[in-house]
Amino acid sequence: MNWTLFVDRLVDQPWIESGADAVKESAGKVIDALPRRVRNFLHGVWLGHPFHPVITDIVVGSYSTLAVLDVAEAAGAKQIAPATDLALATGLSSGMLAAAAGFTDWRVLDGKARKIGFVHMLFNVTGTLLYIASLIARKGGNRGLGRGLAFAGYGTLFGGAYLGGHLVFAKNVGVDHAADWETTSEYKNAGSEADLMPGELRRVMLDEAPVVLFRHSGTVIAMSDSCAHMGCPLSERGIIEGDSIRCSCHGSRYRIVDGLVIEGPSAHPQPVYDVRLRSGQIEVRQPKG
Ligand code: FES
Repeated sequence: MNWTLFVDRLVDQPWIESGADAVKESAGKVIDALPRRVRNFLHGVWLGHPFHPVITDIVVGSYSTLAVLDVAEAAGAKQIAPATDLALATGLSSGMLAAAAGFTDWRVLDGKARKIGFVHMLFNVTGTLLYIASLIARKGGNRGLGRGLAFAGYGTLFGGAYLGGHLVFAKNVGVDHAADWETTSEYKNAGSEADLMPGELRRVMLDEAPVVLFRHSGTVIAMSDSCAHMGCPLSERGIIEGDSIRCSCHGSRYRIVDGLVIEGPSAHPQPVYDVRLRSGQIEVRQPKG
């Protein structure tokens, strides 16, 4: 079976689109109201790549530990019940953080990625509810039922994990979209300085890498033209805001001097290149080291 095709067709059902729109509209307002520092934390700006997949490793690890301990407890090792409960509590608490990070990233997605992300979310919410029911059953003394609910949650989370992987590996969500330029450390001619107008964002291709040139604070800046978040061209969607450039596609803002992220959703910095002016020509190269 072609699973990629299956997922792409599955998410084309109208109820998925309308459900995703409704959730994005209502719950997105909560995320928008958070301080920028909190949103940047959830996006993973401090980490240099998305935070969501990091924290989901803890969730999956906790629930996998729980599954093993549940089997042991069912086999008669009653003394490990506190460890089993701790694994469940760790899974639930880290799952809340993973949900917050994932939702913060998801709300700016478009098209098919947004619909796949919505179904991914439905699987994970269902799995989490099953784990909460499992906790309640255990606290009520019915540990057998608690184990059954936990295994149902584990299976459900696998569906969600598959779709999470599909988002990254098939839809390139969360990866660094700034073009790699690895071919040379030599300066390359990027055109005449006199032709670069103040306020202009000019796209040039250097060794097949898209580069955007613009004037800023009396000098010429060269950056990757492909926004690190989802690849929008900064030459078309970039807006200079003081000492930063904002991508108007989803609002990521980068510091001009070094490309560091000031505001997500991008978690990846934007590559900034070395520039020198020789005989009226702009020359650009990869920074050394
Ligand atoms: S492509 Fe999303 S912020 Fe630039």
